Amino acid sequence: MNAVPVHPSLQFSALQIAWLQELGIDKPWIPGDVPRNQPVAVSPAKVQRPASTVPHLAGRPPVGHRPPSPAAPLAPTKKGALAVPALTGSEVRTADIAAMTTDLAGLTAAIAACQACGLCQERHQVVVGQGVERPTVMVIGEAPGEQEDRQGQPFVGRSGRLLDNMLSAIGSGRDRNVYVANAIKCRPPGNRNPRPDELAACLPFLQRQIELVRPDSILALGRFAAQALLSTEGTLLSLRGQSHFITSGGRQIPVVVSYHPAYLLRRPMEKAAAWQDLQAVRNL
Ligand code: URA
Repeated sequence: MNAVPVHPSLQFSALQIAWLQELGIDKPWIPGDVPRNQPVAVSPAKVQRPASTVPHLAGRPPVGHRPPSPAAPLAPTKKGALAVPALTGSEVRTADIAAMTTDLAGLTAAIAACQACGLCQERHQVVVGQGVERPTVMVIGEAPGEQEDRQGQPFVGRSGRLLDNMLSAIGSGRDRNVYVANAIKCRPPGNRNPRPDELAACLPFLQRQIELVRPDSILALGRFAAQALLSTEGTLLSLRGQSHFITSGGRQIPVVVSYHPAYLLRRPMEKAAAWQDLQAVRNL
């Protein structure tokens, strides 16, 4: 392959890298290891680009393989429970792309261009996150629902209203000290459960998001968020009430596992337990 003469000071967005891959140019400008903080310049306009017009990230060789960020190792697979599979082709690429982003705008653009799993086919928008950077708590839910997919923001439907009420009960909110995101950035059709391959493909984006947001603590809502984040196959019941930590950006971040608000809407009697979890977050 011919080397492409690109000055090392030039910055490349995830989309540009994907386009170059589309042209068959894999990594001529990357001298070995790309510095983690290499700036990624992506205009917000590209974020809403329809999936059908962006190059496929799937089916391409990795852009100079980098291991996923150390936020959580990928789970070993076992039969029976949710198992986030070991690195697959698409997962390697999302790890590479995520590692090259240096801010949330770049990460959002990379996710908007992602076609690593089938969820890109039916999404209206990617739903990345909302709230403040360096929050006291980063809330991580499961995946966007219909309303979120339409509006491009996490937790805007009934579950979101309950979540906001719960947060405000401990003096918190997305406008002040909270950042809200999901384990999966695209809506699973018909609000079905996310599949292990989808969780695995999206995990590097979540891990990079945590590194960029730099929360003091994390509240994982529901089993999919908890399992993906903690790289475990444990049930929600076994994970709830335990002390967990992940390593992200060289820091240890405490993780509290709690019920998903959608579950609390169906089982209001569990709100007392969820309240205990919120107290645990507040006390961190
Ligand atoms: N449920 C989630 O887990 N996330 C959302 O954004 C909305 C509903």
